[in-house]
Amino acid sequence: MEFFLDTADVDEIREIASWGILDGVTTNPSLIKKSGRDFKTVVAEIASICDGPISAEVTALDTEGMVEQGRLLKEELPPNVIIKIPCTPEGLAATKILTADGIKTNVTLIFSASQALMAAKAGATYVSPFIGRIDDTGADGMTLIAEIMSAWDNYNVDTKVLAASIRHPTHVLACMQMGAHTVTMPTKIFRQLMTHPLTDKGLAGFMKDWAEVEAAGNA
Ligand code: G3P
Repeated sequence: MEFFLDTADVDEIREIASWGILDGVTTNPSLIKKSGRDFKTVVAEIASICDGPISAEVTALDTEGMVEQGRLLKEELPPNVIIKIPCTPEGLAATKILTADGIKTNVTLIFSASQALMAAKAGATYVSPFIGRIDDTGADGMTLIAEIMSAWDNYNVDTKVLAASIRHPTHVLACMQMGAHTVTMPTKIFRQLMTHPLTDKGLAGFMKDWAEVEAAGNA
């Protein structure tokens, strides 16, 4: 399973990248706004920290504009940047054109299995279903991941399912059980997934005993 960070905060990205298991980063216009930095500068810096796919989102709403922005971002930014495109009819057409150019894409804002399958049909490298935002409406976001994985089994789809809008570690655990290829999560959840009180307690016990081994001159 690929682990992506869903942030444009370069300090957080550096911290998690130092663990050695960061596979990619996703950004969106809201995360860029939160960073308070220039879009292309911050995406280029992220791409220099993490070798994996870095999603940069287009903001045009028409196909021509999306294609133009996507091509320009590919020209101006490092080669590991991929183009994030909203799941609209115009976005599908842009995905098809950029895919034909050999440009990798991440089709975002997916809320149904039919949208996911259509984006895959257009050639998307990744599709991003938003789990948490479905939970926010009172429905079950994980049901969408299950539906998409089942459609993928039926049709042998190559596109990777990138579970997004992750709110808590159990979303990630459920994605692992369902075989989602990739999950993108905030830094807080990365930290939560790596933390266990018994690990901390066990390590403290080993360190205390080792100090006594050293004190006895047996180290
Ligand atoms: O990458 C975007 C997606 O993960 C959005 O998350 O928390 O704004 O619903 P959220």
